[in-house]
Amino acid sequence: MRKPDPCVLVIFGASGDLTARKLIPALYEMRAVGALPSSFRVLGVSRRPKTDDAWRDELAVSAREHAKRFDAGVWREFAKCIHYFAGDAARPEMYDGLRERLAQLDTDGGTRGNRLFYLSVAPELYESIVQRIDEAELVTEGKRWCSIDPSARSWQRIIIEKPFGHDEASAASLNRSLGRVFEEEAIYRIDHYLGKEVVQAMLVLRFANTMFEPIWNHRYIDHVQISASETVGVGNRTAFYDGTGAIRDMIQSHLLQIFAFVVMEPPATITADDIRAEKIKAVRAIRPTTAEDIASHAVLGQYAGDAQEGAYVDHEGVAKGSTTETFAALKLHVDNWRWAGTPFFVRSGKRLAKKRTEIVVQFKRPAANLFRGTPHTGGAVMGNRLVIEIAPFERTRLRFESKVPGTPLTIASVEMQVDFDKEFGVEPLEAYGPLLLDAMRGDQSLYKHRLEVESGWAAVMPFLGPGSMAARQGIASNYAPGSWGPAAADELMSSDGRAWHND
Ligand SMILES: NC(=O)c1ccc[n+]([C@@H]2O[C@H](COP(=O)([O-])OP(=O)(O)OC[C@H]3O[C@@H](n4cnc5c(N)ncnc54)[C@H](OP(=O)(O)O)[C@@H]3O)[C@@H](O)[C@H]2O)c1
Repeated sequence: MRKPDPCVLVIFGASGDLTARKLIPALYEMRAVGALPSSFRVLGVSRRPKTDDAWRDELAVSAREHAKRFDAGVWREFAKCIHYFAGDAARPEMYDGLRERLAQLDTDGGTRGNRLFYLSVAPELYESIVQRIDEAELVTEGKRWCSIDPSARSWQRIIIEKPFGHDEASAASLNRSLGRVFEEEAIYRIDHYLGKEVVQAMLVLRFANTMFEPIWNHRYIDHVQISASETVGVGNRTAFYDGTGAIRDMIQSHLLQIFAFVVMEPPATITADDIRAEKIKAVRAIRPTTAEDIASHAVLGQYAGDAQEGAYVDHEGVAKGSTTETFAALKLHVDNWRWAGTPFFVRSGKRLAKKRTEIVVQFKRPAANLFRGTPHTGGAVMGNRLVIEIAPFERTRLRFESKVPGTPLTIASVEMQVDFDKEFGVEPLEAYGPLLLDAMRGDQSLYKHRLEVESGWAAVMPFLGPGSMAARQGIASNYAPGSWGPAAADELMSSDGRAWHND
């Protein structure tokens, strides 16, 4: 694989949690395996004043805690490329100093004017920072610049964190602001779920094997479940969460990305453009949910309290009578020839029975059941089931029917399981590391396209808008902590003879 280009990674929001807990440990891990560019610098930007050394010391503490196999010697070498610049990124006067500092880093570090901006600040600041970057003329690559300076050989790219917008209109507005300054090819909308090995392994599973693709359709697949459950509550993030909820926080972003990999058609080639073109089509094919369908297609909930933690509605910071969902289960349909008639159930929630993110592909039962009267340890012949676990373990399990050896004909369901770390002897890496390297080499395969984000928002808007009020009424404390959500979520499945995979 091509080595990433020399560059300066400019992190806006350098004093923050994401930088300390995820970005820097991930970069350190990349450095430890020799994957960083030969010429590389990090320039952190935040308001509070501190020296390079002070920031390095702070980061050493969190890297020691959060990076895999911390080695003080490797860290010391890596820390030499970390720098800090104090300033308010929303104010134009900061940018003269920033430009000078960047030029100095280019001279010292051979980073050739290549910049990877990372917006790791509160979303309210995204648009103003993009505008400031533009006004400071820090972007010199792109179609609009060719005529001005055709010799400009450096690149400037930008990574934007989630949340990307609060609804369809704000996402479109942010896209427009970004588009005024950066080409789409330079805009990297990050979703760290896409850095998880198993999500990428989905491409290989589907398209490098002959056995799945021919049956990957409505003829053979009864339904698909995509679930992300957490055992913890909202903790001290109430102010943020109460304005967000499970649909915005998890479903619109992460789970629809996973959905796109399950639903997409085979791309023509394994390039970013072709992969993203198919993902866009997948998300755009979600059937718009009508106001009449909301009640039968969505179950929303809020966790009750127990001895460990109070009920969601009782947390400090949660608005009185809040109808923000800490649990959501949605039924989606995909209007294309491959998937017509196969529902997709997408579920996410807090304070549930287990911490787990997984895809469950439930195949139909055999069309001709020869074994109707044959004893079965589970009651009856079941459809095959493929479970792709993404977290906390990265593993894949395939259930199929088998004869119990040594018995007169008796059938049992058995499972084959592949644990990625055991099979390949490599632990999965922190997802941010490989994604950052992709951005440094200009590979957008695992980043979201503008249309994908906007189509994702369009698909969930009916469940967020005024039409969802009926589904939100009476949701306070409608599920017990440690359960799998409100009873109505089970009915969403059982009304069609289906059940959630809660094993
Ligand atoms: N934390 C996570 O695990 C996580 C996960 C997914 C997505 N995200 C997203 O990543 C972004 C950052 O999250 P976070 O948790 O790291 O937030 P955070 O802890 O609040 O950090 C943001 C930092 O931005 C700096 N800042 C604020 N205003 C600034 C300004 N005008 N100019 C320059 N710096 C400024 C602040 O440092 P100073 O006070 O020194 O300026 C602050 O420490 C958010 O959009 C969040 O939604 C975070």
